[in-house]
Amino acid sequence: MKVMVTEMEEGVKDNGASTPKSRVTNQCRVLLSMRLLQILLLFLVLTLGISVVSIHMIKFLKIQHLDPVAPTTLISMYGRGTVTLDSFIRPPSNVWHTMNDSELLWRASMEPQRNGYPFKRVPKLAFMFLSKGPLPFAPLWERFFEGYEGLYSIYVHALPYYKSDFSRSSVFYRRYIPSQAVAWGEMSMGDAERRLLANALLDISNEWFILLSESCIPLRGFGFIYSYVSESRYSFMGAADEEGPDGRGRYRTEMEPEVKLSQWRKGSQWFEINRKLAVEIVQDTTYYPKFKEFCRPPCYVDEHYFPTMLSMKHRLSLANRTMTWTDWSRGGAHPATFGKADITESFLKKLPGAKSCLYNDQKSQICYLFARKFAPSALEPLLQLAPKILELGSNRSSTRRSWFLF
Ligand SMILES: *[C@@H]1O[C@H](CO)[C@@H](O)[C@H](O)[C@H]1NC(C)=O
Ligand SMILES: *[C@@H]1O[C@H](CO)[C@@H](O)[C@H](O)[C@H]1NC(C)=O
Ligand SMILES: *[C@@H]1O[C@H](CO)[C@@H](O)[C@H](O)[C@H]1NC(C)=O
Repeated sequence: MKVMVTEMEEGVKDNGASTPKSRVTNQCRVLLSMRLLQILLLFLVLTLGISVVSIHMIKFLKIQHLDPVAPTTLISMYGRGTVTLDSFIRPPSNVWHTMNDSELLWRASMEPQRNGYPFKRVPKLAFMFLSKGPLPFAPLWERFFEGYEGLYSIYVHALPYYKSDFSRSSVFYRRYIPSQAVAWGEMSMGDAERRLLANALLDISNEWFILLSESCIPLRGFGFIYSYVSESRYSFMGAADEEGPDGRGRYRTEMEPEVKLSQWRKGSQWFEINRKLAVEIVQDTTYYPKFKEFCRPPCYVDEHYFPTMLSMKHRLSLANRTMTWTDWSRGGAHPATFGKADITESFLKKLPGAKSCLYNDQKSQICYLFARKFAPSALEPLLQLAPKILELGSNRSSTRRSWFLF
C-alpha cells in the first residue's frame, strides 16, 4: 500500500516536475481559449436574450399602436397594474379607434347595472352628425356650442377616407369616427346610425343622443335645447302606426314571428333618444337580421327599424314625434331644401311651433328644436340672424329661464 501511494505521489510529482516550458504555454493557451469560449457563449446567450425580449417589445408596441382603445379600456378593467375608476369614466380624448363594427357594438353594449354613480357625473348631449363629409353649417354650430363646454360631445360619420380640415380650436376637430359607405334607405344607413350611437356610448357621461344631418340647423340656443331634452319624460322618436302603402304597406310577413304587422311603426329618421334606448339599439341582434333582409327600398330601414323595435319594449318612453322640422309639403321622395332667399326672421321664428304637440303630456308651442334641409347658401343670413334666433350671448341661467316662459 505504502509503495503504491509513493508511486502515485511520485507519478504526480514526476508529471509536475518533468513539465517542460513549452507544455506550460500550451496549457495557458488551452486555458485562454476556454475563457474566450466562455465569453463568446455568454455573449451569444445575451444577444439571444436581447433579441427575444425585443421581439416581444415590438409585438407589444404594435398591438398598442394598432389598437389604442383596448389598453385604455379593457386592460384597465381586467388588471395590468392598478384598476382605476378614472380610466373607465374619462372619455377617450380621440374618437378614432381600430375596432370593427362587431367589436365596437359589443364594447358599447356594456353598461353599469348599479344605480347611481360613485362620482359627479354631468349628463351630456351627444350631437351625432350623419354627413357625406363637409359640414356647411359648422360656423353656426361653433357659435351654438360656445360657452357650453362639458355639456355636449360631437360625433361625425362621413364617407370613409374623407379628410376633414377643422383646426385645433374647432369643436369638430378630431370628432370624425371610423366610418363606412352609406346607401340611402338601406341597412348601411342603419349601420351608420348604430355606429354613431356606439361611439357616443363609449363616453359614459353622454345621456341623450341626437341624430342630425349636415343640412340641419338649430332653431334655439343650446341652453334651451339642453333643458327641453333633459327635462322631457320622453325620447323624441317618431313612431306611428300608419295605414297605406308608405306605412303598413312596407311590412313583409317574412319578418314574423319577431316583428308582427301590429308592431310595425314608422317615424322620422332624425331622433333624440336617451342612453337606455341607445344601449337597446346597439345590443339588438334579434330584429336587425329581419330588417336587413326584408326591409329594402321602397321600405326604408331608417324610417322603420328603430321606431318598430323601440315601440315593442319601450313604447312608454317614446314621445312618438321628432324634434326636427322637415318640409314634406312639396311631395316626392325628398323634403324641400331652403336657401339664402328663404331665410328671414319670421320664417325661422315660426318653425318651432309649426305644428302643435305635447311636451310632457301638456300642449306646447315649441315642438321643433332643429330643422332641415338647408342649402349651404343659407349660412350667411343664418349667421346674421343667429344672435336673435339662437339667443346667442345669453347665459345659461337666462336661457333656462326663458324656457319656462312658454
Ligand atoms: C371583427 O374582427 C373580429 C376579429 O378579427 C372578427 O371575428 C369579426 O368577424 C369582425 N367583424 C366584422 C364585422 O368585420
Ligand atoms: C306613444 O305611442 C305608444 C303606442 O305605440 C303609446 O303607448 C304611448 O303612450 C305614446 N306616447 C306618448 C307620450 O303619447
Ligand atoms: C346671466 O343671467 C343672470 C340671471 O338671469 C343675469 O343677472 C346676468 O346679468 C347674466 N349675465 C350675462 C353676462 O348676461
